[in-house]
Amino acid sequence: MTKLRVGLLFGGRSGEHEVSISSARAIANALSADQNTAKYEILPFYIQKDGRWLAGDTPQQVLKSGTPQQLPDSTLPSTHSESSVAKTQTLSPWQSPSQVAEVDVWFPILHGPNGEDGTIQGLLTLMQVPFVGSGVLGSAVGMDKIVMKTIFAQTGLPQVKYKALNRGQIWSNPCVFPKLCDEIEATLGYPCFVKPANLGSSVGIAKVRSRQELEAALDNAASYDRKIIVEAGVVARELECAVLGNDSPKASVLGEITYNAEFYDYETKYTEGKADLLIPAPVPEAVTRQIQEMALQAFAAVDAAGLARVDFFYVEATGEVFINEINTFPGFTATSMYPLLWAHSGVSFPELVDKLIQLALERHSVPTRE
Ligand SMILES: Nc1ncnc2c1ncn2[C@@H]1O[C@H](COP(=O)(O)OP(=O)(O)O)[C@@H](O)[C@H]1O
Ligand SMILES: [Mg+2]
Repeated sequence: MTKLRVGLLFGGRSGEHEVSISSARAIANALSADQNTAKYEILPFYIQKDGRWLAGDTPQQVLKSGTPQQLPDSTLPSTHSESSVAKTQTLSPWQSPSQVAEVDVWFPILHGPNGEDGTIQGLLTLMQVPFVGSGVLGSAVGMDKIVMKTIFAQTGLPQVKYKALNRGQIWSNPCVFPKLCDEIEATLGYPCFVKPANLGSSVGIAKVRSRQELEAALDNAASYDRKIIVEAGVVARELECAVLGNDSPKASVLGEITYNAEFYDYETKYTEGKADLLIPAPVPEAVTRQIQEMALQAFAAVDAAGLARVDFFYVEATGEVFINEINTFPGFTATSMYPLLWAHSGVSFPELVDKLIQLALERHSVPTRE
């Protein structure tokens, strides 16, 4: 049987470069495990932090060591002759390594902007090769918290009160800014959460309790993104549900995140031992069913495909459930919530990556009229 060549695309320009490497290592291991060994051949492509793509030896080394690499510019091939591209091929972001042509199916293992947001998905769509996960629309909608919330609202999914702002309102007009802060205080109150609309991993997010903190947080968030969202804070348990499939997706058991911190910030997310995952989440059966249903609705609403993790706030005191966000390429390391939720739902890590590749092929094979 000829093996299917799977292009692993990892690293990338977002702040989640290191997480992407960890996810890629776990996925590469799973593609070499059990029955997958006979089915798949891995072709790794590493995107450096500056956006340049590498094929060949360096991606293998990054996968093995788990540490990012940045080749100095002097190692760039001065010509594109055969000899200069023999070992590690490094090219400008708009030039792809020649090995790209050998890939049968892509596995874009990229979190955050320039990877989980529809950009890579657009490139792969133009290349007319199947790829794992959501297409351009689902990825783009899932990345932008303001567009995502607008669509969730339209779908009737309950969420916390929020206000969308842009950088211009925060930075360029000294008369508008105080009014804006007055309005946030009146409609959302404290504590509230200030977030750049298009990041992830809690980068640039602040929980604020006073006018002074609000002003500083808005200014800081505006330095990350043109679009900013401010949300009313809730005191709630954080529950997550994994979704797998294309047009008839399934929802997993729920997981709960617990931690000792003001909120689930970057440090708590990525420091070993700072947060615990409880699977299945110890919540009433009715809450589980409600959240699974909402997760599937959210998946369809943003036009996601393949996989997504949908995150919720559960206010135990009142029984209310609010949707927080959908992540179209959630963390996928050996200890990440997404694969663990499936493991508890009866799908092992190797089975999960196999299933995702099959879903990518299925989606690609459906004929479309253009
Ligand atoms: N409205 C809110 N009320 C309470 N906690 C929140 C709220 N919004 C965010 N948080 C906290 O901040 C964390 C990160 O926010 P989130 O919107 O999920 O950003 P990211 O996309 O970076 O994960 C959440 O997991 C939660 O702990
Ligand atoms: Mg989150």
